[in-house]
Amino acid sequence: FEPVKIAPSILSADFMNLQRDIKVIEAGGAGYVHVDVMDGHFVPNLTMGVPVVKQLKKITNMPLDVHLMISNPLDQLPWFLDAGADIVTVHAEAAAGYQLERAVEMIHSAGVKAAASVKPHTPVEVLAPVMAQLDMVLVMSVEPGFSGQSYIEGSERKVARVVELARAVGASPLIEVDGGIGVKTAPLVAAAGADVLVCGSAVCGAADPAAAIAEVTQAAEA
Ligand code: DX5
Ligand code: ZN
Repeated sequence: FEPVKIAPSILSADFMNLQRDIKVIEAGGAGYVHVDVMDGHFVPNLTMGVPVVKQLKKITNMPLDVHLMISNPLDQLPWFLDAGADIVTVHAEAAAGYQLERAVEMIHSAGVKAAASVKPHTPVEVLAPVMAQLDMVLVMSVEPGFSGQSYIEGSERKVARVVELARAVGASPLIEVDGGIGVKTAPLVAAAGADVLVCGSAVCGAADPAAAIAEVTQAAEA
């Protein structure tokens, strides 16, 4: 049994004091830094990209968990792999046909951990062709695009379904849940089998992010 890890999303950090915020979550025991890359096309919002990943790599030892919410991920994957991402998540909706398999291969050839994600209305079954190869599955519990949204009720059932699907092929990828996770929702997804909890507003948006990490971790274990 492994305790859940928290992956604070820096989308809710203070960009003018990003290094300070990174140090705070690192000291607070965060397991990963969650980097939300949005291209204004796959999702309506536009956030950060390769230059930010490169600079984060220089200032932290926490693994960089890069969540690519971009169209045509195959075109840009090499840049993020070079920039120092430790885990890269590609959306199934942005990688049709064999592109998802190709993406996982590209990520692994760079010695990086590969994850795939599904939006709330996409069935997890679309991940079946790559399930046995994945290091992590990211279940979106809000429509990707913005932090601060409410957890979509019942998303924990999708987490449980990933556990089943993975078991069926003898795989045990980490399961990460992203969107509206805080002290109220962490217990639901942790009970369903989540290993990594992304927290934007609940941690980076909190007055005391280190205390928030402890509170969410505790809630998840209760
Ligand atoms: C949403 C992003 C999330 C978001 C989480 O598209 O993928 O990582 O920043 O923010 P909260 O925890 O506030 O929902
Ligand atoms: Zn995210």
